[in-house]
Amino acid sequence: RQKIWLDTDPGFDDWLTMLLLNSNPDIDWLGVSVVAGNAPVDITYDNALRIKANDALDVPIYRGCDRPLNGVIETAQRILGDSGMPTTGAVLPPGAATDAPGDAVDALIAAVRAHPGQITLIAIAPMTNLATALQRAPDIAGQIVEIIMMGGSSDQGNHTAAAEFNVFADPEAADQVFRAGIPMRMFGLNLCRQLLVTNAEVERLRAVGTPRAITLAGYLEAYVRIRSSDGSVPMPMYDPVVALYLEAPQLFQFLPAHVAIELKGELTRGMTVCEFRVPRRAPVNTQVAHLADGPAAIELLMRRLTAIVA
Ligand code: BDR
Ligand code: CA
Repeated sequence: RQKIWLDTDPGFDDWLTMLLLNSNPDIDWLGVSVVAGNAPVDITYDNALRIKANDALDVPIYRGCDRPLNGVIETAQRILGDSGMPTTGAVLPPGAATDAPGDAVDALIAAVRAHPGQITLIAIAPMTNLATALQRAPDIAGQIVEIIMMGGSSDQGNHTAAAEFNVFADPEAADQVFRAGIPMRMFGLNLCRQLLVTNAEVERLRAVGTPRAITLAGYLEAYVRIRSSDGSVPMPMYDPVVALYLEAPQLFQFLPAHVAIELKGELTRGMTVCEFRVPRRAPVNTQVAHLADGPAAIELLMRRLTAIVA
């Protein structure tokens, strides 16, 4: 079974990713590091523990970094509200106050050292924990199979015109991770815009009819309404794409690229600059997902979710 470590900032789409990882029998899920991102880390950690309790996740969850490397906190609460995880229905009840003891960065380092050359990192949040781990333990870079990330974009941004949120929220961390020599697989906004959810998916989930299905449907409904108050504009699905890839890699196609993070630009800070040109000025460091069978991926997501909450 594939050994997985998840770095996350729940986040509704992070929640869906956790559900998919937890239900995939081919995955050995070793741990979760939580970081500040969609909301401050007190809140993303609290959300993670609500999810763990609600869905009986059997995985240790560690609290990680509370601010990006440059110290300037950027959340998505302006769009997502204080909890970072809005719903039109019932709110997930609180979970435990704490979970696995110790610092997430140290736990991640220990996991990689305990399983050298075996762990794939799933990164669906700002990369502060990962960059901090590489600073503390540069030896782990050569021991990570691959980082599969949701973040960045080969075209437009979302948090700014040029930048995607996870990279914009800690560009220095992303820069360090992309330069670390670890094989990278990037699912950016360009890819996620091919996986669209609408009110039809909300109703399909709600129709399952169990309390868990109805609760999850309330969150999906609020998610679909991010783009339009009535949910009439299809909304891209972000983080779960990485878990869908693990299960069904044949649904995705990649282009090799050198990806660099813009750190200075007045309009472009946090942009993932993808060099697809051949010959390149710099060597390939990333497989950039560029094509998906979007309807098939959403169908797989819905089949899994409706079974999980049935
Ligand atoms: C990413 O930003 C967060 O808001 C989501 O959870 C996802 O990881 C999308 O840009
Ligand atoms: Ca996320």
